[in-house]
Amino acid sequence: MAELTTLASPLDVGGVKIRNRVFLAPMSGITDEPFRQRAHAHGAGLVVSEMVASGELAKGRAGCDLRIRHSGLPVHMVQLAGREAVHMAEGARIAAGEGADIIDINMGCPAKKVTGGYAGSALMRDLDHALSLIEAVVGAVSVPVTVKMRLGWDESALNAPMLARRAEQAGVSMVTVHGRTRCQFYQGKADWRAIARVKQAVSIPVVANGDVGSPEEAATILEQSGADAVMIGRAHYGAPWVAGSIAAAATGASAQGIPHTPQALADYVVSHYEDMLSLYGIESGLRQARKHLGWYLDRHAPDVSAERRRAILTSSEPSEVVAELCRVFADGAQPTSLRSAA
Ligand SMILES: Cc1cc2nc3c(=O)[nH]c(=O)nc-3n(C[C@H](O)[C@H](O)[C@H](O)COP(=O)(O)O)c2cc1C
Repeated sequence: MAELTTLASPLDVGGVKIRNRVFLAPMSGITDEPFRQRAHAHGAGLVVSEMVASGELAKGRAGCDLRIRHSGLPVHMVQLAGREAVHMAEGARIAAGEGADIIDINMGCPAKKVTGGYAGSALMRDLDHALSLIEAVVGAVSVPVTVKMRLGWDESALNAPMLARRAEQAGVSMVTVHGRTRCQFYQGKADWRAIARVKQAVSIPVVANGDVGSPEEAATILEQSGADAVMIGRAHYGAPWVAGSIAAAATGASAQGIPHTPQALADYVVSHYEDMLSLYGIESGLRQARKHLGWYLDRHAPDVSAERRRAILTSSEPSEVVAELCRVFADGAQPTSLRSAA
């Protein structure tokens, strides 16, 4: 498949070299630093921060710092959401000051909390306003600026090609298109062919997104959209290595670091859990880690008893959770990290 091998080649985004064309999608509440570090280590070409509300960032609200801070990866890409040009520009300056190599603007989020504030995909209803935000961000920083969008607000307003063209004219270096409208939320199937209209409208790189989870799907979305790269979100639930394994498949190789044995899987899940506890502190970390633990169980231990699953997902004692994870994933063997520390 010619499209599959294309995914292995580097991509230039406004002068920033991206090592391959299979990206991890930004997912609020999911793609935090521990997750991005794992996806990068497995070989994802590019990882993006969770969206940061530019108004809150500009006001110095707690929590924003964790979302924008540099995690030491070669390309630090921060996504901003918002509707006020002044906040978007200030947010971009703060993110660039933290070392962001690329600033992405969220024009795709369908959540009512976000669109209700006329941010995210609501910006696709008013392209003049959307452009004023893009111009403010492009004018505020010297790093490349990118935009992530949907096909449009609804079926009657598929204006992604127009937004992409105007964004390119305003100096944007790459656009990502999720092949659904805002009104579809996550229903139905992403329309990969509709992304082709965006590709035809611009000469900057276009990234295709929506419902991709395998090398075959990645090759097909490229073929149907003509896009330059693919971005993958939900297929990473319980498997931070998906983008990396597709990028590796493009070269005929295997991804780095995928846990193939029960012991390796137990070590992997426990270390992800521990990284989250150390990033957020025990109380918040416990809560935030639960969805990941649930996904690891769904994917790798679907037959676990309801009782054991409940123990893992409700315990507020990290050592109990670790012991249960080891029981489920590795028949009770202690994680390697604990054994080497003992
Ligand atoms: C839980 C969740 C959180 C998301 N958060 C963001 C976000 O912060 N910024 C953004 O641009 N898109 C966000 N998205 C959309 C994804 O980046 C992606 O466009 C969408 O999930 C479709 O891709 P997929 O089918 O590969 O998951 C989010 C999606 C999900 C499911």
